Parts: sequence; C-alpha cells; structure tokens
Amino acid sequence: MHAMERINRKTWSDPFAIRDYQNGGGYLNEGEAAALQAAFAVTAGRRVLDIGVGGGRTSALLRDCSETYLGIDYTPEMIRLARRKHPDLRFELMDARDLSSLPAAGFDVVLFSYNGIDSVNAEGRLAVMASVARVLAPGGVFVFSTFHRGWDGFSRRIGYRRLVWTRDPVRLVLRAGAYATRSATGLWRKFRNARLEERDAEHAIMLHGAHDFGILVYATTPAQAEAQLHAAGFEAPTALLDLDGRPLAATAGPELEYFYVVVRKPEAR
Ligand SMILES: C[S@@+](CC[C@H](N)C(=O)[O-])C[C@H]1O[C@@H](n2cnc3c(N)ncnc32)[C@H](O)[C@@H]1O
Repeated sequence: MHAMERINRKTWSDPFAIRDYQNGGGYLNEGEAAALQAAFAVTAGRRVLDIGVGGGRTSALLRDCSETYLGIDYTPEMIRLARRKHPDLRFELMDARDLSSLPAAGFDVVLFSYNGIDSVNAEGRLAVMASVARVLAPGGVFVFSTFHRGWDGFSRRIGYRRLVWTRDPVRLVLRAGAYATRSATGLWRKFRNARLEERDAEHAIMLHGAHDFGILVYATTPAQAEAQLHAAGFEAPTALLDLDGRPLAATAGPELEYFYVVVRKPEAR
C-alpha cells in the first residue's frame, strides 16, 4: 500500500479522530455554507451523495434539502458512527475512487466535504473526479473543498494542539500528560513523514499538522483543479470560494489554507 494511503487510513480510524468527528456540528465556515448554497441554486434535483461523510456532520446539514440521501465513507468506524448518529439515514462503506456499485446519473448533488478528496494520491484524485462525473446526472453539481498548494501553514513547525487550562488539579495533570504525549507523537511524525512530501509541477503532497501530523494531503491550485475537472468532463467552475465565502482572488495568497469548488456536469444535449 502507498505510504500516503496507509498513514491516512490509520488516522481516520484512530479513536482520537473518531472522537473529533463525533462532536463536530454545523457549517465549518462561511465558505462551506456559501458553496452548498451555490450548488443547490444551480440544480433543481435533490438526490444527494455525501462522500467522506465521517461522523455525519454534513448529514445533519443536508437531510432537509435532500429528496434522497446516501452518505459514504471508506472508514468502517466512521460509517458506524454516522449510522449511530442518524439511524434514519442511509450510509454505505465505499471508496470514492470506485463508485461502480452506484447507478450512473443517479445523483444531482455530490459533496466531498472538509478536504476529504485530498486524502488520496494524484491517481486517486483523478479516479474520484471521473467516478463523481459518472454518478452525477446531466446538470448535476459536485461540491468539494481542497488544500491550497501555496498555503504557508504547511511549513508550520509545531502541531495544532493546545493545553486547555482548568483549576481542577487532577484534570490538569491528565490534560498535561495527554498534551505532552500527543505533542511528542506529532513531532516524531513530522520528523519521520516529512520525507514523504512531494512537490512537482503537477501537484504537491504535503504533511498537514492536523491529527498530530497524521495526514498527508494532496494540495493544488485553483487553475490545476479547474484543468483536472475539465478533463473529467465538468464545465468551468460555477464558483471558487475562500473560507469566508468570497470569490477567490485571481492569485490566491499564502494565507489561503483551502478553498471551495462548485462545478457542474454539462446538461445533456
Ligand atoms: C476530514 S474527514 C471529514 C469528515 C466529514 N465529512 C466532516 O466534514 O466532518 C475526511 C473523511 O473522508 C473519508 N475519506 C477519505 N478518503 C476517502 C475515500 N477515498 N473514499 C471515501 N471516504 C474517504 C475519511 O474516512 C474521513 O471520514
């Protein structure tokens, strides 16, 4: 198995990651809300496929605007969690790179939220785009977010973890212990996994600080994303948005961590 695949799969099934996705709720930011609004504005159909559904955060956002809803994820622990949280919705264990068990043209809106598409390598990414194009009905829309290759946060030296203060001495000691252990794990992974990073003209694979440097992500540019989507049969993007829901500036700067893409499959002629 490719190292990126092995590392990311291990992280998504880690109890700490499951706990993080168990507690999440609501929109991540204005960009996510605006991207979904833009998607539902350009297609009349409401058959929704929610890829990389994790603990079901987006299920809660999409259920009321879906005529039919299917959430999928390739991590069994995440599917179990989503089913527990939303027992009335449908969830299946499935890899986004192979949607062959789903009918062609069976969905109007496909979402791959929170940069989940970046968990797979360059070849896998193109497979995801082609698979989504197949399952979308003509005029259907694909919404996702993706890491920005020019983001300067990839070179951050320390992780994202913070020690949260409490007056309770027992809790404080436990928290300090967990903080020290996770920080040490993060530093070790940063040291060990940095050699797996790749930067070439086509794409970059970067180590991200989330999950104590437990994920390697595909990072791209708006222009490259647009070219890949075009090759997979999509129209020019309906919207490219930043995290505040504003249209992306012509040249996205180093402060842009990731961005939203809303893109349509052409109507049948
Ligand atoms: C960053 S988490 C996001 C979870 C959820 N969508 C949210 O926003 O809270 C990414 C999720 O995508 C899933 N994932 C990554 N690659 C996948 C693939 N190739 N097929 C299906 N699911 C995938 C992971 O298992 C994980 O649950």
